[in-house]
This record gives sequence, structure tokens and C-alpha cells, in this order.
Amino acid sequence: KEKEEALISEEEKLSLKVQATISFQKHFQAKHNDIVIASLPKSGTTWLKALAFATVKRHRFIPSSQNHPLLNSNSHTIVPYFEFNIYGGEDNVIPDLSTIPEPRIFGTHIPFPSLSHSIHNSNCKIMYICRNPFDAFISHWHFFKTILPSSVTFSLEEAFEWYCEGTHFFGPFWSNILGYWEASKDTPNKILFLKYEELKANTNFELKKIAQFLDCPFSEEEESGGVIDSIIELCSFKKMKELEINKSGKAVQFVENKHLFRKGEIGDWVNYFSPSMTEKLSKVIEEKFGGSDFSF
Ligand code: A3P
Repeated sequence: KEKEEALISEEEKLSLKVQATISFQKHFQAKHNDIVIASLPKSGTTWLKALAFATVKRHRFIPSSQNHPLLNSNSHTIVPYFEFNIYGGEDNVIPDLSTIPEPRIFGTHIPFPSLSHSIHNSNCKIMYICRNPFDAFISHWHFFKTILPSSVTFSLEEAFEWYCEGTHFFGPFWSNILGYWEASKDTPNKILFLKYEELKANTNFELKKIAQFLDCPFSEEEESGGVIDSIIELCSFKKMKELEINKSGKAVQFVENKHLFRKGEIGDWVNYFSPSMTEKLSKVIEEKFGGSDFSF
């Protein structure tokens, strides 16, 4: 009975998310300088939000990063938009977002075709971050085990089957990724497509790309003055995990911030996958991405 009740409450939450998505599509009014960070969960969204925030607001805080708001307070910028929407009030009315300092930064996991019309039609920018499905799945697995009520139990194998068949929040991973990938090729000035692994491997290079894309490139003085390094350090896994707000805070209902920081590494999946799981996911990836020019 306890399990049944827990599952019903999960279903209710899901139905709220669907309502929130529809409400967001209809009512959200993008501003020309908004920045939308899109991703599937567990792809490095929190990291990219922090990098974007620190980059566009750097003139006010860097190099005196001691006073940077990422270190001091919670901020709207790290709250996914749809969460605002769900808990914004009766009838899923969009809360007042006008007080958020510009440029506003929003996160979303909604698939590209389902974004609000005003995001499609305005000049706002979208950055999408994807992660290789092997690590993304393991990160999900840990995350859901942590945040779901203990009465909702499922095995790694069960979760893996759902992941491979595309039963997943925000759509099958392949369609979410390919939706943004194809769109980014058509409109490269509007959508920047990033990969977690590349961001890890060459953060400096990728951050310069991000700043350029957001129309606030780093000057030579900033580069030689260590501004890029300061931002990278400020947003590093270690630094972010240690922030008080990320130890005890809760930016999103149901999720404590501390659960957004686990290992922050590439390749942890090898510790969990059996040979048959490896074969199966490789096949799914080949089948779903084989016809495209996308590769992980
Ligand atoms: P792991 O579970 O593999 O450690 P999201 O923010 O999209 O939910 O993604 C969470 C994943 O990004 C987690 O992966 C988390 O540890 C990792 N992560 C969070 N902050 C990071 C950072 N500053 N640098 C690198 N990885 C980070």
C-alpha cells in the first residue's frame, strides 16, 4: 500500500509537470536577452548554469569572486523554469519573473519542439548540454535512488530497460538530444550545442566559446588577468559542492542541492555496466544516432 501511494504521488507530480509545460508554452514571454540552458537531467546543467551566470555577470563580480552571488545566496538562475511554473500559484499561472535581473538565465529539460513559442520567436539564446548516455544513465540512477521515496524501489536493470526503450522524463534521450542538435545546425547563432565531456576536457576553450556566443567575449586583458581561470575555479565541481548553499539549500522543490553534486567524472559507468548492458546501450545509440551526423 505504501508503495502504491508513493507511486500515485509520483504520478501526480508528473501530471503537474505536464500541466506546467503546457502553461509554459502558452504564457512564457521570452526577452531578447534571455539565456535558456537546455539539457536532459544529469548532463551537467548545474555546471553550465553556473558558468553562464558567472560569465555574463562577471563585470560586477570578477575578480573579487568573494562577493560573487554564487558563493553567497541562492538565485533564480539555478532554478529550472518549469519548477517556477508548477508551484507558481493556482491554475499554473506563471509567477512574476520581471524582478529577475537581466540577462535572465533559465534552465529547462523540455524538448526543443515543445519550448515556449516566444523562445522560438525571440532573439534569446539557447545553450544545450548533452552527456554520453552511459554516464548520464548512471548519474540518473544514483539521483533517482536518492530523491525518490524509499518505498519506490527499482533495480538498476529495470531502470536500464526503461532508459533503453525511451521511457524517460522529457522524452527518450535520443530525441531530446537530436532535436537540439539539428536545430543548432540550422540556427547556430541561436543555439549553442555543448558536450559535457568536451567541457571537462577543455573548459577554457569551451568557456571562451560560450562567452562569444553570449555576445560577451573575454577581452585580452581579461584573459591575461586570469578572469577565465577565476570563473572556471568558481564553478569547479569541488568549489560548487563545498558551497554552503549546495550543502544545505534546496533550489528546486523535492531536490536538495547536495544531490546535484556526486562525482563529476567521465567514465564512472564502467563500474556498473555488465557486458550485456554495454552491448545493448551501444546498439541503441547506433540505431538511434546512426542516421545522423551526431556522435558522442
Ligand atoms: P555525476 O552524477 O556523474 O557525478 P545536472 O546538473 O544536469 O543534474 O548534472 C549532474 C551531474 O553533473 C552529476 O554527475 C554532477 O556530479 C555533475 N556536476 C555537477 N556540478 C559539476 C561541476 N561543477 N563540474 C563537473 N560536473 C559537475
